[in-house]
Amino acid sequence: MTDTSPGPTHYAVIGHPVSHSLSPRIHAEFAAQTNQSITYTAIDVGPHELMGRLDALMEEGVHGLNVTVPLKSNTAKSCASLSARAKRAGAVNTLLSRDGDWHGDTTDGDGLITDLNQLGLDLRGQSILLMGAGGSAWSILGALLDAKPRDIVVANRTVSTGRLLSRHFMRYGTVSACGLDRVPNRRYGLVINATSASLQHSRPAIPPGNVRGAHCYDLMYAPGGTPFTDWCFDNGAKSAHTGIGMLVEQAALSFELWRGVRPDTAPVRSRLRTELGFKA
Ligand code: ATR
Repeated sequence: MTDTSPGPTHYAVIGHPVSHSLSPRIHAEFAAQTNQSITYTAIDVGPHELMGRLDALMEEGVHGLNVTVPLKSNTAKSCASLSARAKRAGAVNTLLSRDGDWHGDTTDGDGLITDLNQLGLDLRGQSILLMGAGGSAWSILGALLDAKPRDIVVANRTVSTGRLLSRHFMRYGTVSACGLDRVPNRRYGLVINATSASLQHSRPAIPPGNVRGAHCYDLMYAPGGTPFTDWCFDNGAKSAHTGIGMLVEQAALSFELWRGVRPDTAPVRSRLRTELGFKA
């Protein structure tokens, strides 16, 4: 007898580098937990081959994609349609196949806010220092402003890029831009590293005074810590977190967009903590 049951639905994460991504493991756990029949793989895609690979993956019947560094902004430009939050961010981390075209969304900002809430951090009335002005920073700035902080300073190595970002979001709250060497000397409630410096085993060069007494958060993650979180601990930060919690939370929101069911993130965070040593 022929087996007529539908096979699994295919998903993947694209980015460069992507081989060490934890997303396949996280989505496999979500699928097992919610009884969903899916495959989820990591596919290395460089910026120059993005358009061709997006078309090819659609033709191969891939139903949804996660998009990571450094493709978030370029992929947004290649989507046939965008959610309101992806349009505002000019960046995507989640693609859904819709009638033969890619629809783009971003769950990064809401994933970050969910994790910050779980860490007990309330952003209302706080001054926030956001370092970086690439796709990751664009993805989260709207959600940060929605949380009603007092103000946000965007500090970027290339000042002009930081200005573009801050101008785009000015209508949503108080936001300004400066160079990493000109960060206003004030008491920040939260300092976020949205640069990709950790990929070069480095950290943004800001003075230690900027993190003293502040809660600090690196969007990048590594077991134990990143160069930035290690440096924050050494320089009097109140707390320093890697982005592993955000990774799990944004993944859960993507999974819900694809499958219509919200997985429980607590057991996944707990396993990343006990099995891989992440402070999730
Ligand atoms: P992503 O999608 O992760 O944001 P991206 O779009 O390539 O990746 O952006 C990388 C960001 O990290 C940029 O803000 C970049 O600063 P520039 O605009 O000056 O290039 C920042 N960045 C990368 N390496 C850095 C480093 N060693 N120190 C400080 N900032 C760095």
